[in-house]
Amino acid sequence: MMKVISLVNQKGGCGKTTTAVNLAYAFAKRGNRTLLIDLDPQAHATFSLGITPNLTTADLLEHVIENRPFNPKEFFVWRKDDLSLLPASIGLSALENTINRQNNKLEILTKMLMNIDAHFDYCIIDCPPNLGALTLNALVASSYSVVPLGICELSLRGVENLNSILSMLFEHRKKAPYILYLITQVDRRFRYSENFYNKVKEQFRDQLLSTAIRTNIHLREAAAFGKSVFEYRSDSRGAQDYKQLAQEIESITQRPSLVQLCLKGMGHNEVYVVGEFNEWRKHRNFQLKKVDDGTWSISLPLKRGTYRYKFIVDNEWINDPSNSLQENDAFGGKNSILFVR
Ligand SMILES: Nc1ncnc2c1ncn2[C@@H]1O[C@H](COP(=O)(O)OP(=O)(O)OP(=O)(O)O)[C@@H](O)[C@H]1O
Ligand SMILES: [Mg+2]
Repeated sequence: MMKVISLVNQKGGCGKTTTAVNLAYAFAKRGNRTLLIDLDPQAHATFSLGITPNLTTADLLEHVIENRPFNPKEFFVWRKDDLSLLPASIGLSALENTINRQNNKLEILTKMLMNIDAHFDYCIIDCPPNLGALTLNALVASSYSVVPLGICELSLRGVENLNSILSMLFEHRKKAPYILYLITQVDRRFRYSENFYNKVKEQFRDQLLSTAIRTNIHLREAAAFGKSVFEYRSDSRGAQDYKQLAQEIESITQRPSLVQLCLKGMGHNEVYVVGEFNEWRKHRNFQLKKVDDGTWSISLPLKRGTYRYKFIVDNEWINDPSNSLQENDAFGGKNSILFVR
């Protein structure tokens, strides 16, 4: 199955496009069949790879909206073995209005990707710096979203808005991408970078990628020359960082499947999940997040198998009321049962 990863942050200039282009290139270098989709009307990813498009993302999505059959291969520009690009143009901004008029306006991109699932291992989507219909389509289609945080407080402000959008998506669809935060433009000579890092680590814990992208002029220059940093300066710090990032994300996406558990309930203060996957121990990594007033949720990466579990709601152990699969426990109560395939 193709793994879809979108680059999202409504804050401009935090490194979405630089990351999309170089991560896609690094994935392909590691032998993954990779598609980079430029979903930004500014078409920066397209320009950063020096491509003047003929057919674009907008043309392809138009086919999907009009239910016209298409041959995806006609739309892709092959960059090298294992890497192709679906380029953008300013035409995408007009298409955004068309998308907004559709009944299934959030699923247009998902529908397109279903047609090409067999052709690629990874699809990387570069989003525009807003939370409009294009970005929403990308969020709905993605299993993972990488949120680049340039070293600046404003990029954290973007994250708050993103989180409320994700809660809404989750409310309506019971599904949202797993978010990974990435620190970009790090300059360790400045104390501010370190303070920022500590603050972000505290806030995002395991969701913060351990690779950080350092400031590197070759990243900027490569884009100006229409090349990935690997083609421009393969020995640069930028190339090293993106190579390491690709390794890290690859191993995260190859982990066992993510299982989402939810609990409805107003007025709870703290909810944990305990079970056979964590030796029934209450641990902060297994604390559910409040996604809105009445819903608590957690994504667990679990290997195939069968697991018994319970929630701990403000110190009271309960079974999962939304799961009808349960069995008696040793204490006269019930355990919920989860099958992971
Ligand atoms: N690690 C880095 N070191 C040096 N320059 C960088 C780095 N990351 C990004 N840049 C430069 O910063 C600028 C903004 O980066 P980029 O275009 O990737 O951000 P973006 O989030 O895609 O912006 P937008 O929101 O406008 O799409 C670009 O000129 C890029 O070359
Ligand atoms: Mg960009």
